[in-house]
Amino acid sequence: MAPLTRITGTGSFLPERVVSNAELVRDLGARGIETSEDWIVTRTGIRQRHLATPGTGTVDLAERAARAALQDAGAPAAGVDLIIVASSTPDQVFPSTACQVQERLGARGGAAFDVQAACSGFVYALALADALIRTGAHRRALVIGAETYSRILDWNDRTTCVLFGDGAGAVVLEAAAAGEPPVGVLAARLHADGSHGAILSVAGHLGQGTAVGDPFLRMDGKAVFKLAVEVLESSAREVLALAGLQTAQIDWMIPHQANVRILTASAKRLEMPPERVVVTVDRHGNTSAASVPLALDLARRDGRVRAGHVVLLQGVGGGFTWGSVLVRL
Ligand code: ACO
Repeated sequence: MAPLTRITGTGSFLPERVVSNAELVRDLGARGIETSEDWIVTRTGIRQRHLATPGTGTVDLAERAARAALQDAGAPAAGVDLIIVASSTPDQVFPSTACQVQERLGARGGAAFDVQAACSGFVYALALADALIRTGAHRRALVIGAETYSRILDWNDRTTCVLFGDGAGAVVLEAAAAGEPPVGVLAARLHADGSHGAILSVAGHLGQGTAVGDPFLRMDGKAVFKLAVEVLESSAREVLALAGLQTAQIDWMIPHQANVRILTASAKRLEMPPERVVVTVDRHGNTSAASVPLALDLARRDGRVRAGHVVLLQGVGGGFTWGSVLVRL
């Protein structure tokens, strides 16, 4: 059995400011935008979100999550030779968030770069780190999902602004000895279909000293919903087949936390009992690339996800992108 890579620590960070549905509904109502707590909860399962205050950037959230993951792993930052940050909301065009995190942690000299695959970003970054470690080129990676979507939301668009929140999650991934049963990343596969780009996008860019085009997130919610449920199922079946496992052998499914209805529908297709699906979207809304590591960390810390468990991590989002990583912790 070839050596694998293993998650040796997890961490997460949510900004202090919590905005409940009640507060959001009040704020939007005061500006003439009609929505209701009932609509938000029944259509999405979201009850609150955390929002970064002005002056707090994606890198601040990423650093806090990274430090928590390193502490959990008992690993010094100095030993980290690969940092990959998944984010669609970097604080600056470059240097990358990963380079900024590297500098803050004092972990100089290794590779550091960002991955942009919208809400699939963490799963993309994790698959990439797994592959890079297995080549022998790197030994200890920090894989981080960090987002401040509050900055790219049109707060006058009720169809999107109620859905998202800010946050970060991170894992430490290290080369692992071969064993039986194998512990670590068992299978990973990534996909994209750019022909669906228009259903979820932030179309603007920086140019001539200003934002050019639409700087806000736009989404065809129904199209995203339909595609997400389809690809979460196919992607789960793909990695299960690669690892030679059955759905019944998955202890926990941790899909991108977009919407409780998407999670429920895809679990149903896979015949996964709802009690084996980790749901945290109620607490922090859709945090895009941060949502999978956030959910993994919360479920580890509350004792649900434990050593030896087989966990299915799944991303799906703008691009359109999707992918799964099957891991035994
Ligand atoms: N409050 C009240 N009413 C609203 C709101 C709101 N916040 N938003 C929309 N509505 C209205 C609509 O205008 C519509 O009214 P109408 O029937 O009079 O036209 C009605 O509610 C129903 O709207 P739908 O879009 O049909 O509602 P749906 O049941 O599809 O739910 C939702 C919308 C929650 C967005 C759903 O489609 C969804 O979850 N889609 C996936 C979203 C998602 O997961 N996005 C993240 C992807 S990951 C990434 O990469 C960012």
